[in-house]
Amino acid sequence: MFRIGNLALKSNLFLSPLAGYTNLPFRLTLRELGGLDLATTDLVNARSLLEKNPKALKLIETCPQDRPLAVQLFGAVPEEMRDAALYLESIGISSVDINMGCPVRKVCRVGGGSAMMTELQKTSELVQAMVDAVRIPVTTKMRLGWDDENLTAPDLARALEDVGVAAIFVHGRTREQGFSGTVKLAGIRAVVEAVKSIPVIGNGDVTTPEGAKMMIDQTGCAGVSIGRGAFYNPWIFLHTQQYLETGELPPEPTFEERVRVMCRHLDLMIQVFGETHGCRMFRKVAPWYSKRFGPANEFNRRVVQLTSKSEFDAIVADYIRWRQQFLDEHGQLKPTYRPAPLVPSFMQEPGVAQREQIPVPKGPVEVW
Ligand SMILES: Cc1cc2nc3c(=O)[nH]c(=O)nc-3n(C[C@H](O)[C@H](O)[C@H](O)COP(=O)(O)O)c2cc1C
Repeated sequence: MFRIGNLALKSNLFLSPLAGYTNLPFRLTLRELGGLDLATTDLVNARSLLEKNPKALKLIETCPQDRPLAVQLFGAVPEEMRDAALYLESIGISSVDINMGCPVRKVCRVGGGSAMMTELQKTSELVQAMVDAVRIPVTTKMRLGWDDENLTAPDLARALEDVGVAAIFVHGRTREQGFSGTVKLAGIRAVVEAVKSIPVIGNGDVTTPEGAKMMIDQTGCAGVSIGRGAFYNPWIFLHTQQYLETGELPPEPTFEERVRVMCRHLDLMIQVFGETHGCRMFRKVAPWYSKRFGPANEFNRRVVQLTSKSEFDAIVADYIRWRQQFLDEHGQLKPTYRPAPLVPSFMQEPGVAQREQIPVPKGPVEVW
């Protein structure tokens, strides 16, 4: 058992919020495969939620199988953040995560100092008001800081622990890095060392069970949160859990299993968003699955124009036939066509040409 505040969890592996992706169908797909307990929504604007904006309500759509669930809130008005947390508690959400973007961003720009403490003070007050208002855990998600000269996460984490935050999620990059460069395990470790007793969850570029283990071993973090790695490999939570428990790596899922899960994901998209919208949304999801199929240009070309379930079934059937040319006599991809193994940035050997970078989907990187 793993605890975040008063919440007992079956896994120390978490789904990172990915705006536009971590919707109910994706969460259910991952949950069915196992290894994941606390999952999160995309970030939701606190004010929109209080105004019952239909888009905001759709972002928090859930069901009994989708538990325990955290909602990530975004906002700077203390009363709105507090009231949104109260509302989420009242409808049975398990915990509230605060998107810290870079709370000390303005301050970092002007060089820190006493102004930074003011900002830290303001952030702490906002968070404290939320913690005092609800019984469910309040957690926060942050980066290491603005840049290498302003690694503010340890100070911020300590201040937030003092006002009652139940866990800290930290992406091991600075804001200046965006999504490039290496995830800095030492930066995550500094946050782990800064807090007294709350769990710190490491995040960034974990695409393999070995990557998760290395992050835990080298930073002392209590758990790992995985975002894009779950697109590539929805089995990553189950496989990582098994690897952490037994030291043995489960075999890669077969092509047939990948296709099965992809089809299940689309079915859930259609259930939640309707056929037309669900298929449209799946246009950007299916190519993530196909990255592990081997040659898939034929599949990708058609799936990005997807309009219906029957069309999808035809695309998959045609693709399975087309893909046979790349198989050996045992029905396995011939070695030259096998996708390269994924290697997290922090496990790549220095000086070796960068392997395939984990792509960054488009969006407002400044708040992630
Ligand atoms: C498409 C996309 C959407 C994201 N949306 C959010 C978000 O809503 N809230 C947030 O705190 N982080 C967001 N992030 C950042 C991720 O949660 C995570 O910190 C980052 O991608 C690094 O982890 P990963 O390498 O496991 O993906 C987003 C990242 C991507 C690529």
